[in-house]
Amino acid sequence: MLASSPRLIYSGKAKNVYEVDDRYLILEFKDELTAFDGAKRDNAPQKGVLAAAMSAWFFKVLEENGVPTHFVEYDGDRRLKVLKTQLIPLEVIVRNYAYGSQLKRMPLLKKLQKFSRPIVEFHYKSDELHDPLVLEDDILEAGLLSESELKYIKDLALKVNEILSKIFENVGLTFIDMKLEFGRLGNKIILIDEISGDTFRVIDREGKHLDKECYRRGAPPSELVNNYKKILELLNIKIEPIKIEGK
Ligand SMILES: Nc1ncnc2c1ncn2[C@@H]1O[C@H](COP(=O)(O)OP(=O)(O)OP(=O)(O)O)[C@@H](O)[C@H]1O
Ligand SMILES: [Mg+2]
Repeated sequence: MLASSPRLIYSGKAKNVYEVDDRYLILEFKDELTAFDGAKRDNAPQKGVLAAAMSAWFFKVLEENGVPTHFVEYDGDRRLKVLKTQLIPLEVIVRNYAYGSQLKRMPLLKKLQKFSRPIVEFHYKSDELHDPLVLEDDILEAGLLSESELKYIKDLALKVNEILSKIFENVGLTFIDMKLEFGRLGNKIILIDEISGDTFRVIDREGKHLDKECYRRGAPPSELVNNYKKILELLNIKIEPIKIEGK
């Protein structure tokens, strides 16, 4: 009998998720571009390929630096094979410079002010509630994570931030902030989802955004695609298959 083909189990704003079997998922990156919880939408040809290539490359570098991730294989186009995990419904944000929603909740901060040390914050993943900010004690009392798991995730998020900050600094870019997601695999917690211009903010020496912020501010989809190409070029990321052996 023919092996059954991957089954579509979720269609999100940025990706389609297919289940291969009990162990693996395929993340297929779309060319669809959305902002403001999907209120703004466009088609951006090639965006999916660029975000997939970027994600695969970052996951590989993180793995090489001892960060456990879901990444298994990249097909050289728009699909990543990943380990299937039990999603932890939190968005973990690490901020190096003041920006975005943080300025609304704390108006005493100046836009792009550099922090004395990175700030880690948690949001509960809920579209209806618009991913509200939650306290660490909320997470513990809700039973989402144990105290040691919370500390583990925070430390891992800070490690990812340190690695990415250095990578961008080396090519003259400033790493502002990023959003990470984590999942459970047996008794382990690993980094999941994507790492791309959709999930981090990075600016060049002139203060120009190479991430999705340009689109939020009204730039056309083609400009975003060119910016993502620029990130690939600066980091010398090739759009070609990648595989982590033995996973
Ligand atoms: N390894 C993984 N195991 C389980 N779930 C994963 C894994 N990697 C990513 N996901 C989930 O797959 C989905 C990817 O789709 P996408 O990013 O397009 O969703 P979205 O529209 O942003 O919605 P949301 O993130 O709110 O669910 C996300 O829900 C993400 O949390
Ligand atoms: Mg998402």
